[in-house]
Amino acid sequence: MAETPLEQSSTDLLTAYRREALLGGGEKRLADQHKKGKLTARERLTLLLDEDSFEEFGMFVRHRSHDFGLDKQRPLGDGVVTGCGKINGRMVYVFSQDFTVFGGSLSEAHAEKIVKVMEMAMRNGCPIIGLNDSGGARIQEGVVSLGGYADIFLLNTLASGVVPQISAILGPCAGGAVYSPAITDFVFMVEGTSYMFVTGPNVVKTVTHEDVTSEALGGADTHAQKSGVAHFAMPNELECLEAIRKLVTYLPQNNKEKAPSIAQSSSSLTSGGGGSRGVDSPDETRPALNSVIPDNPNKPYDMHAVIGEIVDADSFFEVHRDFATNIIVGFGRLNGESIGIVANQPLSMAGVLDIDSSTKGARFVRFCDAFNIPLVVFEDVPGFLPGTDQEWRGIIRHGAKLLYAFAEATVPKVTIITRKAYGGAYDVMNSKHIRGDMNYAWPAAEIAVMGPKGAVEIIFKKEIAEAADPVLREEELTTEYRTRFANPFIAAERGYVDDVIMPSETRLRLIRALKMLETKQDTNPWKKHGNIPL
Ligand code: HXC
Repeated sequence: MAETPLEQSSTDLLTAYRREALLGGGEKRLADQHKKGKLTARERLTLLLDEDSFEEFGMFVRHRSHDFGLDKQRPLGDGVVTGCGKINGRMVYVFSQDFTVFGGSLSEAHAEKIVKVMEMAMRNGCPIIGLNDSGGARIQEGVVSLGGYADIFLLNTLASGVVPQISAILGPCAGGAVYSPAITDFVFMVEGTSYMFVTGPNVVKTVTHEDVTSEALGGADTHAQKSGVAHFAMPNELECLEAIRKLVTYLPQNNKEKAPSIAQSSSSLTSGGGGSRGVDSPDETRPALNSVIPDNPNKPYDMHAVIGEIVDADSFFEVHRDFATNIIVGFGRLNGESIGIVANQPLSMAGVLDIDSSTKGARFVRFCDAFNIPLVVFEDVPGFLPGTDQEWRGIIRHGAKLLYAFAEATVPKVTIITRKAYGGAYDVMNSKHIRGDMNYAWPAAEIAVMGPKGAVEIIFKKEIAEAADPVLREEELTTEYRTRFANPFIAAERGYVDDVIMPSETRLRLIRALKMLETKQDTNPWKKHGNIPL
């Protein structure tokens, strides 16, 4: 059937509309955006997505408000650019708020556009990435814009655990607007230009009489280091968008798929150690690991170095790097396959579990479990942090989150006890008892109810007090206890660890274990949902 040619006037209109839409809030406001050190909504999408892959929806949407003179300002697109595009050839759905249009504020129509791409992302089983730069609810629209936010919150919640959701905060983000990113899986912020707070510095001053800058109250460093609201604080937008592209490479498209594997190339097999090795040969052993653990069990070492030796070269992608540094979480690859890593960090507070490290670990474990990413745990933990501060703030409730998260996870789960596995923390860190599939220990592992000194002080209190030389007696008993209990063989005798392995073999054994667990099927009893201690 012959196509009816459009009237010339209609094609002209299309061209004019497109031109107008591309200009957002106009040239001056676009220039102002650059002056603030920010990119425009469309520039951000160009950098985020593969070249020429962006398909826009809703370019001609306008708001329908009349109050406060809004009927005379009806910009095309209504302050948000929405659509889909590809990252390394894989489809993602996106929205990018345009601060040059009413400060990127959220109207009814703006919210509808975001809801539409979120629904499409869920229907098509693809990640959704939101680039937020908005003054919050469009004040002139009142409750209608609040309703729009609630529609988005609902979709965020329904999409949680179904498709990966990633938020970048690239400008102000105030009021209820922070709650959409907060429900998503990963939050990126940019130093110096992005803010998140429930109420800004002026309201804070009125209510609590505190003088605080936007940066200190809700800047990137504050949320990446203190509150843990942000998983990543990036130095600039370019690096932020690059990092999002990288993160997506570790993730599956949705909860029914596996993360993509990076095929092993022959050049990477022959390139040996050092330099950029790509994906390593699975046959490599890592002799350097045999000398990682210090002779003195109270001396720290860097778990990052251990992880770096074990995973495919340059593949570790740390999440929440600057928050609760006593636990390390992040993605990596083993023989090209995505894994989620949870590791105690002896360099920070001796790797103890406290409130922040427990919640950080739990959230990461639940993400990996929801999205079929096998978990690898490196354990060196002296226990939970004692004291009134932790107890009064609920270490019991928060520590239980990590326990719950590991226990409910049904993805392949492998643990390496590198050194200490003391007390409740032994159980929590993916022990055999909570369905750890393969649990290995290094020869230096100390698996016990508590450290030798503490144990001896309790169980031999009377004997030490009555000894001719109490100090000497305590030392003798400590050595005896260490020899008897602080080793991996009692646990191995019981089958609580499946094998004691040389550190140098770890990479190899992990690759084998994960291969073996590729076909793992495990489920939890039917339930509407569990009740994780929040
Ligand atoms: C309508 C808004 C707007 C908003 C900004 N603008 N915020 N229009 N509704 N919420 C408009 C401004 O009028 C201005 O228009 C343009 O956007 C740029 O704003 P400026 O103030 O000139 O920019 P800047 O100095 O960079 O300050 C940005 C800002 C500030 C920090 C975001 O605009 C601000 O404080 N806005 C209000 C933030 C807020 O309180 N929002 C409501 C939060 S409560 P022109 O025409 O001059 O370019 C909320 C409830 C959600 O969001 C509830 C969910 C449950």
